[in-house]
Amino acid sequence: MNKFINVYSEDGVGIIQLDRPKVLNALNRQMVDEIVSQLESFDRNDSVRVIVLKGNERAFAAGADIEEMMNETPLSLELLNPFAEWDKISLIKKPILAAVNGFALGGGFELALHCDLIIASEDAKFGFPEVKLGVLPGAGGTQFLTRAMGVRKALEWIWLGEQMTAREALHYGVINRIVAPELVVEETMRLAHQLTKQAPIAIRLIKEAVHAAADVTLQEGKILERKNFYLAFSSEDQKEGMCAFTEKRTPSFKGK
Ligand code: CAA
Repeated sequence: MNKFINVYSEDGVGIIQLDRPKVLNALNRQMVDEIVSQLESFDRNDSVRVIVLKGNERAFAAGADIEEMMNETPLSLELLNPFAEWDKISLIKKPILAAVNGFALGGGFELALHCDLIIASEDAKFGFPEVKLGVLPGAGGTQFLTRAMGVRKALEWIWLGEQMTAREALHYGVINRIVAPELVVEETMRLAHQLTKQAPIAIRLIKEAVHAAADVTLQEGKILERKNFYLAFSSEDQKEGMCAFTEKRTPSFKGK
């Protein structure tokens, strides 16, 4: 049973709602475990094609749970290895969309940055305030932000620990879209449903190839892309997509 998240699905979209509203969805370890287990479960579930992560009107998540973390030692952290759980998010093959209202700070921002697309409200606030706690982002924030905006801008934001507006985040290519606060979930679901209509195997092969672009050389990336291109030709969906084109009809993809 989940204690800190609500889970449901709707027409091929699996939804995870972070649910610790009294502390602005601060992420304690159990909550992260629940999120990751649910992502893995949706990833294995054939009736789910796209996953949406959302919070509430006030916060997506205001970071790792400071109270839980404050008495850790280097050795306790080494033994707990808390970020290994986060690494599993990068292994999820299906698209993950973040619907961000309110605060996405510290670990909350990192959780959004682990998602493939981020839809934010016009008054959403992003940032890494860890420096003000005497620490630094620990769930990949320095890496994700630098890949999105470059070294100098990332250093400026992470050193100063200031809150970034949704408009600034959009400007730096950190998020995809901005909408009015009351439309964030609607717009994210609209996009998610649009993605459920695409060929699922192509969608996952595209996800793998695009994410690899940040880590590998151009030639290695092109080789991976090519192998995925060939692999797509083993799917019924490739036959269906191309037949539908020649027959001038809308394709119906099965994810096979
Ligand atoms: N951990 C634990 N509790 C938190 C929390 C967090 N990250 N963020 C908010 N809360 C709690 C507050 O303590 C408060 O609880 P009480 O009502 O019991 O006092 C409740 O949520 C509401 O928060 P505020 O009263 O502070 O609300 P506000 O509107 O005045 O301020 C805020 C909102 C600016 C987000 C402020 O809560 C804040 O600065 N939160 C901490 C943000 C932060 O530092 N995040 C980084 C955490 S470290 C990290 O994430 C490391 C990593 O990389 C993994």
